[in-house]
Amino acid sequence: MQSEAGKLVILVATMTGAAEMLAEDLQAELGGPEKVELRLLENAVAADFPTTGLALVVSSTYGTGDVPETAERALASLLAEKPELRALRFGVISLGDSHYGDTFAKGGLHWDDALRQCGARRVGEILKIDCQTGDDPAEVARPWLADWLAIAVGADADMASGKARTDIAR
Ligand SMILES: Cc1cc2nc3c(=O)[nH]c(=O)nc-3n(C[C@H](O)[C@H](O)[C@H](O)COP(=O)(O)O)c2cc1C
Repeated sequence: MQSEAGKLVILVATMTGAAEMLAEDLQAELGGPEKVELRLLENAVAADFPTTGLALVVSSTYGTGDVPETAERALASLLAEKPELRALRFGVISLGDSHYGDTFAKGGLHWDDALRQCGARRVGEILKIDCQTGDDPAEVARPWLADWLAIAVGADADMASGKARTDIAR
């Protein structure tokens, strides 16, 4: 499944909805569904991932630092099939709870590893959000998102020989 040129795709891995709510807030912030597509990774497979453009994975953490059970199939499919994602740039927001200690917000790291194994390139640092603080995840994500988009649009412009994707820049 290709992402439309110039459109950001947010890929959501959630169990109880916090990651989805955050993704919806970010989608609204960036201009709504016309500008930003939201795809749930529940029961997804490798072919459901965009192969080009820009993607933002928003994932929570379960088990011992794992992705949510709902998205395990998608992760396993990526790792087994290793689709060619060299034209994809991505970022990761990883939700967790620092009460879990060593496994804090490690869910997102699995997407980072799997997407890189498929040739995709991460731009920016992974944002870890601690849900235990009670802060609104969208408030925590907002400044990170602005920085991430600036880096991502720059990287994309380099890649597309000067064709900057200003449509998702704010
Ligand atoms: C059973 C269970 C296991 C969890 N395991 C972890 C964990 O290992 N590491 C972590 O950082 N957070 C862990 N969490 C916290 C969740 O990642 C956090 O509550 C997150 O906001 C849930 O997002 P979601 O509603 O999108 O699924 C766990 C939560 C539950 C209920």
